[in-house]
Amino acid sequence: MAAGPARAGALGSDVVKALVLSGGAGTRLRPLTHTSAKQLIPVANRPVLFYALDAVAAAGIVETAIVVGDTEQEIRAAVGDGSEFGLKVSYLRQEAPLGLAHAVRIARDFLADDPFVMYLGDNVLAGGITALVEEFAGAHAAGDADAMILLTRVPDPRQFGVAVLDGDGRVVGLEEKPAHPQSDLALAGVYLFGPAVHDAVAAISPSARGELEITDALQRLLDDGRTVRSHVVAGYWKDTGRVEDLLDANRTMLDLQRAQVRGAVDDASQLTGAVVVDAGAVVRGSRLVGPLVVGAGTTVVGCELGPYASVGEGCELQDTAVADTIVLAGTRVRGGRLRGSLLGREVRVELPAGDPQYRLVLGDHSSVGCHDAVDRDADG
Ligand code: TTP
Repeated sequence: MAAGPARAGALGSDVVKALVLSGGAGTRLRPLTHTSAKQLIPVANRPVLFYALDAVAAAGIVETAIVVGDTEQEIRAAVGDGSEFGLKVSYLRQEAPLGLAHAVRIARDFLADDPFVMYLGDNVLAGGITALVEEFAGAHAAGDADAMILLTRVPDPRQFGVAVLDGDGRVVGLEEKPAHPQSDLALAGVYLFGPAVHDAVAAISPSARGELEITDALQRLLDDGRTVRSHVVAGYWKDTGRVEDLLDANRTMLDLQRAQVRGAVDDASQLTGAVVVDAGAVVRGSRLVGPLVVGAGTTVVGCELGPYASVGEGCELQDTAVADTIVLAGTRVRGGRLRGSLLGREVRVELPAGDPQYRLVLGDHSSVGCHDAVDRDADG
């Protein structure tokens, strides 16, 4: 039987700690990640990391350590002491992205021998983690789980870490990006561990890509005769590693919102569906088709927005059409048609009116212009 915890979490579970991973390199999201943390890119105008922190808090966990790397200051500025989320947050600096199991190693003192949840801070889960945490807590307390992994069915398991299960949901094997997968159940970015994981992460060596792999630690637990259980995620899950994934998560989170207009919308504008216009935003002579969100203090004039546009705070959109796109704070777009785009902070885009539709992925402070658009301004 596992050692009893010092105290119970708010929901009565003995999982009292969370380790949220918010370091990493984010190479697949360049250029955005040249200047900022990928976990702070917003979907439906809320940073991806905040959904993770909400889920941790909703599961009754308070004590949370966030693993950070080069973007430490930005993450600290956004999350602070965690009180806004109902959490008590501390930060653990990882000198380089040396792997998910390395993050567990550096958290040894924080975690002590308590069971904990490890949550990848760039993963979006619509259904939260409460059911998973409770299931693990029960199995762990009964001495029937040293770890539990979250799994999701994927169409092409060859790109993922894949778990092979027995008939009872116990993990019997793990395969990393298998050429001939034995199951379609890929590891999603949430893991629960009891204290046995510490011996496992201490025992493994870096993989061919130089990282301490969490799949190797899980395999080590299995080799040591430990019990690794699984939980297949029922709702939406997405690893937001690429632009397409962020846009997908943006669509899903926008679909969950209800219409709410707190800004000023003039009579010449038309709103359809779940349109959110935040306080201090101004919409004039525009057609807005939800789901979409217009952030606080943003101006929208003569535009067609949506569906699936998330426009951050303090932006200026004029005579443009924007759909299936994320626009970060302080960005200005004039003219043109955008779809499937991701614009960083303080970006300037000026395009000619009409077709074609552009797909732009622009880092913070980028500028895209067109001589026609510039000449038009000079003329008038
Ligand atoms: P990944 O997406 O696997 O890695 P990455 O952030 O380096 O991205 P890319 O592959 O595009 O270069 O990381 C998953 C999450 O875990 C993410 O939030 C970053 C975090 N992480 C750490 O905190 N420390 C690490 O050592 C690693 C590898 C990831």
